[in-house]
Amino acid sequence: MAAQINPSILSADFSRLADEAKAVEGADWLHVDVMDNHFVPNLTLGVPVVESLAKATDTPLDCHLMIEDPDRWAPGYIEAGAGSVTFHVEAAAAPVRLAREIRAKGARASMALRPATPIEPYEDLLPELDMLLVMTVEPGFGGQAFLDIMLPKIRRTRELIAKHGLELWLQVDGGVSASTIERCAEAGADVFVAGSAVYGAEDPAKAVQELRALAEKTTGATGLCGHSTTGR
Ligand code: DX5
Ligand code: ZN
Repeated sequence: MAAQINPSILSADFSRLADEAKAVEGADWLHVDVMDNHFVPNLTLGVPVVESLAKATDTPLDCHLMIEDPDRWAPGYIEAGAGSVTFHVEAAAAPVRLAREIRAKGARASMALRPATPIEPYEDLLPELDMLLVMTVEPGFGGQAFLDIMLPKIRRTRELIAKHGLELWLQVDGGVSASTIERCAEAGADVFVAGSAVYGAEDPAKAVQELRALAEKTTGATGLCGHSTTGR
């Protein structure tokens, strides 16, 4: 399983976003954290910034909407240029309708779970999604400590994806660094968001490569141990 590394611009210098995007050109996606000061106690950026950023970089944008009423606002992020849009299931009024609308508008549909939200009630929704995000911190801020207690949920999610034979990406976000990424990969994650671990590094592009190498080393090893239950 190829590992994807998505640097989070939440840890970048907001006055130089185009340069900060270029600083991680080897990254798979740029992770853009949209916060509304309601769903989470922090306020970041919205559609106009995403629109400008999309014009300034060739790296596709992975927009993580930590906002109330994503049913209303998500389509605007696709029109602004996002290639992937993640909404929180806790905030969505109609997650199936929303996922279908995101796909119909040409973006990848992704659903996020806060740490206290279990995956099991949403098993039947998985075929509607292109990615599932398991938060590994309480959303709202960069630089928080990785929550190890999320590892069983990552593992259970990977098992459900395999059980249904889906091509669903499993993303982790929060506290992902060189010291935690192997645990995430071993548990079954394949898309890794990293904010402070990338933009806090002296050489962000090198940090991306190092994180990817660590994740792929682990998924390769895990694959040999039969962690994949695909085809069951
Ligand atoms: C937190 C955001 C994350 C954040 C991660 O609510 O969703 O994307 O940028 O930052 P680090 O990697 O520093 O935990
Ligand atoms: Zn995020």
